[in-house]
Amino acid sequence: MAEAVKAHYPAPRLRVQAMKEYHPPLGNRDALRLDFNENTLACSPKVQQVLGRISAGDLTRYPERQPVEAIVAARLGLDPAQVALTNGVDEAIHVLFETFLEEGDVLLLPVPTYTMYEIYASATDATIVTVQAANDMHFPFENLLAAITPNTRIIAIANPNSPSGSVATREQLLAIATRAPHAIVLVDEAYFHFHGETVIDLIGAIPNLMVARTFSKAYGLAGLRLGLLAGPVELMRWVRRVLSPYSVNSLALACLPPALEDSAYLDWYVSEVLAARADFEAAVDAAGLRRWPSSANFVLVEIGAQHKDFVRHMSSAGVLVRDRSSDPGCDGLVRITIGTRQQMLNAVVALSATMNALSIRGTAR
Ligand SMILES: Cc1ncc(COP(=O)(O)O)c(C=O)c1O
Repeated sequence: MAEAVKAHYPAPRLRVQAMKEYHPPLGNRDALRLDFNENTLACSPKVQQVLGRISAGDLTRYPERQPVEAIVAARLGLDPAQVALTNGVDEAIHVLFETFLEEGDVLLLPVPTYTMYEIYASATDATIVTVQAANDMHFPFENLLAAITPNTRIIAIANPNSPSGSVATREQLLAIATRAPHAIVLVDEAYFHFHGETVIDLIGAIPNLMVARTFSKAYGLAGLRLGLLAGPVELMRWVRRVLSPYSVNSLALACLPPALEDSAYLDWYVSEVLAARADFEAAVDAAGLRRWPSSANFVLVEIGAQHKDFVRHMSSAGVLVRDRSSDPGCDGLVRITIGTRQQMLNAVVALSATMNALSIRGTAR
């Protein structure tokens, strides 16, 4: 009998071997989805009409992104050369980090924040330096300024931030860009529509400012994977060298113009979420739970030691929420996405039942 040959697998880079595994809980989500900050309802019906008209023949072609980039750029008041469409903001982050971060460089991050910054940076040879927000979760402006060094290469700021829902002001963002002219300041405006403030108008005027936007949240197109990166042409030309010309698929490209045109639908969804957020915040306050002010479509709530059981019980009551306890400074905290008013009424019923079942008493009183 032939002796079994021991398989030898080539090893990845050391930095990849040191990376943490990340498995967001995307399975079994057939419930009220208040766990990933998605649109909880639907995209614009105009987008669905366009999808329905796509033929089998259309799918045989490689996607052409430039005409759609021109449409998006015009909407944002930017030059097409200042805008790249990406396979979700995640690809924008990945490609930006691959383009600019090398050994000796530092990615500076206020934390807690969006997990994927750390994941993509840890695949590069750069170092990650974090600046912890205080317990009030305010944007740690002064400490972030103080942490800037000549090695700082990228500062990534989600605005509004996740999971806290806190915001940095335009003045703070400008001060950071001015203090770190040698670094890229990436302002990730994934939740822009729920906040209404932007710095995208400063693209080109500030040489080290870049802005990311997603179509996964308010627009309700998370499944299509569509985001954008905007920046000065002099930075975008390097990003485009690394970015795949094929990564935004033709279905996403076909859906983008009708999504942009149907501003009535977007406005309706955003106003629905903002009304639902106010109602839900009032219910959380009445339940005596501590929460943090949010400028986005989610609220961070303190559940305490029973956070795991809380998430499990909410799920068995048909409502998915996200445990953020392992985020820095977030022990016992759970993030709850805001959907429509009706959905949030259902969420409040599940919340009370869960608090009763687990004898959770709020800490806010
Ligand atoms: C701050 C922030 N940026 C980006 C993303 C991901 O966006 P996309 O779906 O476009 O990759 C998220 C998703 O949760 C987010 O919270």
